[in-house]
Amino acid sequence: MKAVEFQEYGPPHEVCHCVEVDDAPAPEPGEVTVAVEAAAINPADLLIFEGRYPGPNPPARQGVEGAGRVTAIGDSVTQLAVGDRVMLLSRDNWVQQQTIPVGQTVRIPEELDILQAAQIKANPPSAILMLRDYEDLNEGDWVIQNAANSAVGLHLIRMARARGIKTVNVVRREELFQPLMEHGANLVVLDGPDLGERVRAEIGDACLPLAIDAVGGSSCQHLADCVSDGGTVVNYGFLSGDPCMLTPSHTIVHQISLTGFWLVKNLFARPREVIEATYTEVAQLFIDGVLYSPVEATYTLDQVAQALQHAAREGRTGKIVFTPNGAIT
Ligand SMILES: NC(=O)c1ccc[n+]([C@@H]2O[C@H](COP(=O)([O-])OP(=O)(O)OC[C@H]3O[C@@H](n4cnc5c(N)ncnc54)[C@H](OP(=O)(O)O)[C@@H]3O)[C@@H](O)[C@H]2O)c1
Repeated sequence: MKAVEFQEYGPPHEVCHCVEVDDAPAPEPGEVTVAVEAAAINPADLLIFEGRYPGPNPPARQGVEGAGRVTAIGDSVTQLAVGDRVMLLSRDNWVQQQTIPVGQTVRIPEELDILQAAQIKANPPSAILMLRDYEDLNEGDWVIQNAANSAVGLHLIRMARARGIKTVNVVRREELFQPLMEHGANLVVLDGPDLGERVRAEIGDACLPLAIDAVGGSSCQHLADCVSDGGTVVNYGFLSGDPCMLTPSHTIVHQISLTGFWLVKNLFARPREVIEATYTEVAQLFIDGVLYSPVEATYTLDQVAQALQHAAREGRTGKIVFTPNGAIT
């Protein structure tokens, strides 16, 4: 079967190769074999190949998310049957099949589109939990976020709207204004050093207690300029590669706090029932059309270099997704 392996740290499209490996072994008791149907490429994958994010040391397989169908079950597996659709909690999913402990899977409904299922592990729960766990938001309150057209950003817009919370969405390209308004954004603005003044000119002294930062560096500081006194900046990504910046005026005068969110230390540190309940809720939100993750292109595993170059490109309109067992019709 085919699998993607990265041989050393470096530019993703240069260090990742599609290789022929042994088929996944028959499952032992407590294990299942899954044929991976779809697996998204996330910024975390790219950072791991560059040695900038916690992950395996090369040579290794990679792929933080994926979804597929159970093709074999080991003795004592009662919670799944052959033919069930599952999402994968394992982190090496760019492969045609894998045999893993049943606890590394979560059953998902058949009516959930498989290209959406391939993207539900990381981004939707991150948006939901960041919106829920840091500030007590009331209907009519505002939140601000950067990289607002990312998958996390789009989920956040849609989840906020469903709760009556308004969003200020910071992007780096003007052509995103209209599409984000169509997703349900209340305000879309370009990043810049005068962000605080421009946002306050639009929303006045409305309550904006939460900023959600995927970028770090000065972009984090621009968000903090918009936050109400006593509010929180939650950093969850380092797309710029620069340290988060808050000034003493933010922390001392305005009592704004900076904290970090990581799904690994949040959802995945919680009991199994909470993880399952979270993905049941997320799957239903996709089925109901509340959440949606656009896909720009799909690739097979032997197109890995092309797929990774595409995923690293600025200005995408959706995710790049591997279909390891062939195109999804
Ligand atoms: N902490 C956690 O647990 C957790 C969980 C999930 C995701 N994440 C993080 O969330 C972030 C978004 O992930 P995603 O999968 O939603 O992303 P995505 O859909 O792949 O989109 C990437 C986004 O990043 C923007 N971007 C890239 N480089 C940038 C830069 N230097 N400055 C400003 N914007 C930049 C892109 O803007 P353009 O469209 O203009 O190119 C686009 O909006 C990533 O940093 C990821 O690692 C963290």
